[in-house]
Amino acid sequence: MADVSTAADTVRRALAGLEPRVAIVLGSGLGALAGAVTSPLRIPYGEIPGFPQTTVHGHAGELIAGMLEGVPTILQSGRFHLYEGHAPDAVALPVRVFADLGIETLIVTNAAGGLRSTFRPPLLMLIADHLNLMWRNPLLGRVQSGEERFPDMSTPYDQGLRDLARKVALENGIALEEGVYAAVLGPSYETPAEIRMLQRLGADAVGMSTVPEVLVARARGLRVLGVSSITNPGAGMTSDRLSHEGVLQAGRHLAGDLERLVRGVVGGLAAA
Ligand code: HPA
Repeated sequence: MADVSTAADTVRRALAGLEPRVAIVLGSGLGALAGAVTSPLRIPYGEIPGFPQTTVHGHAGELIAGMLEGVPTILQSGRFHLYEGHAPDAVALPVRVFADLGIETLIVTNAAGGLRSTFRPPLLMLIADHLNLMWRNPLLGRVQSGEERFPDMSTPYDQGLRDLARKVALENGIALEEGVYAAVLGPSYETPAEIRMLQRLGADAVGMSTVPEVLVARARGLRVLGVSSITNPGAGMTSDRLSHEGVLQAGRHLAGDLERLVRGVVGGLAAA
């Protein structure tokens, strides 16, 4: 079990007095947002006790803290995935550190396959709810300090933040869908039969991340906003083959809209 307070102490020292209110987890190929932070402080994972190294191309490995739209913010550039072989509590460690730092709002982004037949990727989708089909949960075992044994998950993604995101999208002419994200273990992409199954289960998007972080965030009482970059139609929905390179490329295509959306939401929090 990773020691949250040791990691949090190290990050707090590196922040030199900056007290972030918002944390943002950047998904595959969505790292451009890091450039928007002013006077960034960079904390490489290697300097944080208990943080594993990331192994996925397209994911750096550092926390970046500074001001975003006037709000003290910390970005997680490079997330840990279960498919890399990391334990669920290692995947969720950064969120526990953010909670220890006093962060109130967590914004999670990811790349995902689109399952709704009307989706024409690439596009952005607000996560309204999720299906945990990873069969893993970082809350298993001893209850960690500040967490509940049986956290309520009836509103995993905060309604107020979703309303704010929709307002920002409307004002900026950003197309924004909304739907249910299904999390699977990966790392293989789905088969066409699995895609049909997920569609029947009520999923609008499928990906290999996010849910472990959201489970911990809710157990800690953080407000969560989730945005998926829908980079491709699910396997078998078109004749296209899936590749990580294609996912990264489509993610880059959406990066501008995603950055404007997230900056608008963070700016809206400052105004609130
Ligand atoms: N499936 C799972 N994860 C993904 C996909 C997908 O089609 N696209 C991007 N991440």
